[in-house]
Amino acid sequence: MGLKLDEVVPWGRSFDEYVAMFALSAADLERRIVCCADGPAAFNAGMAARGHFAVSTDPLYAFPAEAIRRRIRETSDLLMREVRKHLDTYVWTAIRSVEELGRRRMAAMEAFLADLAAGAHEGRYVAAALPHLPIADGAFDLALCSHLLFTYSRHLSTAFHLEAIREMARVAAEVRVFPLLDAGGEPSPHVEPVIAALREGGRTVAIRKVPYEFQVGGDEMMVARRAK
Ligand SMILES: C[S@@+](CC[C@H](N)C(=O)[O-])C[C@H]1O[C@@H](n2cnc3c(N)ncnc32)[C@H](O)[C@@H]1O
Repeated sequence: MGLKLDEVVPWGRSFDEYVAMFALSAADLERRIVCCADGPAAFNAGMAARGHFAVSTDPLYAFPAEAIRRRIRETSDLLMREVRKHLDTYVWTAIRSVEELGRRRMAAMEAFLADLAAGAHEGRYVAAALPHLPIADGAFDLALCSHLLFTYSRHLSTAFHLEAIREMARVAAEVRVFPLLDAGGEPSPHVEPVIAALREGGRTVAIRKVPYEFQVGGDEMMVARRAK
């Protein structure tokens, strides 16, 4: 996979944020879920704590918890400074201040770190980099990806986005990707060509509003399904 830890800026969201970002219903939580580019998010730990099971994939999981914790310490100030520089590109209602944002993200990442060793042992954390997943065809019902695709639009090509989403669609009947904005809060230029190519390949694709908006205008996800 070749990921170097000093190139990663770990940043993870909470279980509740995942539920809102992907508009997950109680029935969705019972489905077989794989999360791609899940990083130090607390969704998997939250699923396990509630008696559900999800598999998370990310190249970050090749590193032990202590090394990831060190990297979080090294990079979190920089991330918070970036947020402070661009305060008006965020919605400060559910999360009311930069300090609260920092506390919530650190709590989510601590929940992930506390769960990583046991979760990896149980096969819930799998080191893997898109656009390849070491997972059998159709092994999952739902694949989720937050804050990699479209977020890093400047660094990842349309072809990469398409390959990654097709790979998620190979392993799961339904794929949800959030958000559709890039890291600067602009609509991603990859969204339209990706939708067109997926439809041409016989998938049904929809853009759905979700009950979550932290980046201004970032309240939509892409949903792709196999055509029946
Ligand atoms: C901003 S974090 C998002 C983490 C989590 N999904 C969330 O929303 O809280 C982006 C993640 O993408 C991961 N990543 C980078 N390149 C990747 C790739 N090719 N395939 C899968 N994950 C990748 C990074 O390791 C990092 O954990």
